[in-house]
Amino acid sequence: MSTDEFTVTPYAVEGEVDYDRLLDRFGADELTAEQRAKFPDPVHPLVRRGVFYAGRDLDPFLAAADAGEPHSIVTGRGPSGPMHVGHVFPFYFAKYMQERAGTTVYVPISDDEKYFLKEQSLAEITDHARENLRDILAVGFDPERTRIVLDTADADIVYPLATAFAGEITQATVDATYGDPENVGLSFYPAVQATHLLLPQLVEGRHPTLVPIAVDQDPHVRVCRDVAAKERYPVDKPGALLSKFLPSLEGPGKMSSSADAPSLLLTDDRETIREKILTHAYTGGRTSVAEHREHGGDPSVDVPYQLLHSFFEDSDDRVERFAAEYREGTLLSGELKEIAAEAIADFLEAHQQRRAALADLDEELAPFRLTDEERATARSRVGLPDGGFG
Ligand code: TRP
Repeated sequence: MSTDEFTVTPYAVEGEVDYDRLLDRFGADELTAEQRAKFPDPVHPLVRRGVFYAGRDLDPFLAAADAGEPHSIVTGRGPSGPMHVGHVFPFYFAKYMQERAGTTVYVPISDDEKYFLKEQSLAEITDHARENLRDILAVGFDPERTRIVLDTADADIVYPLATAFAGEITQATVDATYGDPENVGLSFYPAVQATHLLLPQLVEGRHPTLVPIAVDQDPHVRVCRDVAAKERYPVDKPGALLSKFLPSLEGPGKMSSSADAPSLLLTDDRETIREKILTHAYTGGRTSVAEHREHGGDPSVDVPYQLLHSFFEDSDDRVERFAAEYREGTLLSGELKEIAAEAIADFLEAHQQRRAALADLDEELAPFRLTDEERATARSRVGLPDGGFG
């Protein structure tokens, strides 16, 4: 494979991803300075510093958020294993929107998808889902404005809606968008994810929905937008806010939880985080301290710097100072690693405290589940009888 070839689908990310060319391929637009400035103040670092770098149909969402009109975010999780720091940032972004703009947040958990995809039993996936749910609850969403849906457990609502949408998606579209699916589950799954993305509107009425996701998930949004565009159902096309991948410890552009370098897990304690970063983080530093002091390092490829820049250091002043001092050679790789390790450990400690304070999972989930009335409303909006057939 030549270096400029790359593949990005929900099921495979290969090669060196060229984020700009990807936008041409996918037909999405780079965020403008004007759009960035419309996010609630202070604009979240992920937006301000360009991790969320592109989108489609962002303006209706931003306008509704600004005007205090109904608007929602859908941000889900495929429970294939323990969550690492790269998995959790969309949830913290959603929480920021909810706090600042009163955003309604829907969190679908696609246990079915991960079962179709990975060689794990349904029991294993279910264990991951329950652990992941604790992490999602630890983010601290407002149950009044947040709904959590698990595909297999909420099949009474997911399946009828997915059935309605599956009839609108051809096999040719699925093949062209995802590559030939390995099994009929994966063939059908795009209808399930379309259900996730349209659910807020089916429950609460037509309104702008935004899906903040890593760019590899954009195909799901495109398929869903095609379904919505047919106007058989009372929904607008959801918009997307697309992110680059957070770097893995091995280096930028190689985000994967199955790569060789360990991931930073949400359950890691301070010492583990420090050890992982000190031992494994790829740096933009020079081979010797003397050389580094003389020529300086390169923050643009330095993983500890990138982690601080994208999410873990809120202060622009500090981030800019780190970059400047690193380039000058006065800040050393080892020092930057310690700074990043501490910032990440601080964040995780707070997350873990909220996680530990949670009661029994089912009890905690109860106020986040769709009510019977909400389920009936969503079913009726696709033309199914209110109370089922019984
Ligand atoms: N498909 C996503 C993944 O593999 C998980 C997911 C399911 C999701 N439904 C979603 C993400 C809706 C965003 C919005 O990680």
